[in-house]
Amino acid sequence: MHNGRLSIDPAFTVAPVNRRVFGSFVEHMGRCVYGGIYEPGHPTSDDDGFRGDVLDLVRELGVTAVRYPGGNFVSGYRWEDGVGPVEDRPTRLDPAWRTIETNEFGLNEFMAWAAKADIEPIMAMNLGTRGMQEAIDLLEYANHPQGTALSDARIEHGAKEPHGIRMWCLGNEMDGPWQLGHKTAEEYGRLAAETARAMRQFDAGLELVACGSSGRQMPTFGAWEATVLEHTYDVVDLVSAHAYYELEGDDRASFLASSVDMDRFIREVVATADHVGARLSSSKRINISFDEWNVWYLKDLQASGMPDDWTTAPRLSEDAYTALDAVVVGSLLITLLRHADRVTAACQAQLVNTISPIRAEPGGPAWRQSIFHPFALMARHARGTVLDLRVDGPTLATARYGDVPTLDSVATYDAEDGRLAVFVVNRDPDAPVEVSTDLRTFGDVSLVEATLLGGEDLAAANTQEDPDRVAPRAHTGASVEGAALRLTLPPASWTMVLLQVARA
Ligand code: AHR
Repeated sequence: MHNGRLSIDPAFTVAPVNRRVFGSFVEHMGRCVYGGIYEPGHPTSDDDGFRGDVLDLVRELGVTAVRYPGGNFVSGYRWEDGVGPVEDRPTRLDPAWRTIETNEFGLNEFMAWAAKADIEPIMAMNLGTRGMQEAIDLLEYANHPQGTALSDARIEHGAKEPHGIRMWCLGNEMDGPWQLGHKTAEEYGRLAAETARAMRQFDAGLELVACGSSGRQMPTFGAWEATVLEHTYDVVDLVSAHAYYELEGDDRASFLASSVDMDRFIREVVATADHVGARLSSSKRINISFDEWNVWYLKDLQASGMPDDWTTAPRLSEDAYTALDAVVVGSLLITLLRHADRVTAACQAQLVNTISPIRAEPGGPAWRQSIFHPFALMARHARGTVLDLRVDGPTLATARYGDVPTLDSVATYDAEDGRLAVFVVNRDPDAPVEVSTDLRTFGDVSLVEATLLGGEDLAAANTQEDPDRVAPRAHTGASVEGAALRLTLPPASWTMVLLQVARA
């Protein structure tokens, strides 16, 4: 049996839990919109055509913010196509996903859905095939109260109140050769800077995100961020990062260590951003919007290729997630939260059907995929302040990332109600780890709940027929003795422990 130790002290903190870290992503890709959040005629749909069963699951998931409408889709999108009377909206080809886009669902529908889901919108704009003018037109249409052609058009389209969208992404993955309108860092940096400056002339208080790298493995990674931020440092608030991971062959150790790569990615982007800040003698700090992350079986999509025929809302990347995938998603969330001082927004990609925690069948049921659970548990229980804990433990040899720590963990403490939440992953696919935690600095502590994901049946997945096959279960290997929390972590498992601190 391996041994590990967590050192947790309420005096050592990282940053408050930023609720935006529990964001998600709705793209016009596959059946995320059509047949996902939107399906007029479905037995649970409301008058707007929004699926009620999906909305219920979105609320249960605890999603706080949703990025929309893409993704690769946005780089060829004309936002004007998706507003106004539905019968007048043009049908277009979307080359990103080889799909026919009917434009039945657009900005105002998304904002109505966002209000019902009680989420903050994060709006991405097209800097691929379009530019500054369309961006400021969209901003005026969406956010200006009234009395101009664009704002009055919105009112005429049924959205009387301005949408008040605060957070905007200046394009999507512009470093990627697959992106419509792909640019060099110089070209994109200039365009992003001039667009951001123009947007700020309308509203200085917007939060703007420059495109960072679409993956740490990109050949331009690092140099891209440096050049883009040299152009945009004063006019943006965040730089984006995207990362997807998948099990390759049967290399479970490397897959379970995916969050090591995400951790390095975050540290490297922070270092690059701070380096640019230093060169510009700026006291401003650029934070990270990790606005696409997940487990994604992209190689399956690449192997099957894009659909031959142009159709509306084809099934794309409807990955059926396993218990192992849920452990990896849980560990990616631990990493995002551990960096709460610099990762101030994050979006799991995507929300429904496509690469998603929620699945929905046309006219049929919706259900929780395995990866739904760690997200929902953390969104619900990670409260208050992220603590700067220390993790000591064994090392795991991996083919992809070398020797990595077997354990990773994050803890949050809500001083208001004395609730301490500890999240820990055992990345070792074969060996359990015995973990001790000295909680003396908290005073009297009692165990409220211990929950486990993974550890066994790692290939199991939820299906329409068996939607609860993979679900969190009571952790029998957790106990508090005196001031010590003891945990026996099964191989390849994710654990949540809730503790109550007695306050004087
Ligand atoms: O989320 C799926 C796709 O992944 C997005 O459209 C794109 O931004 C990324 O490459």
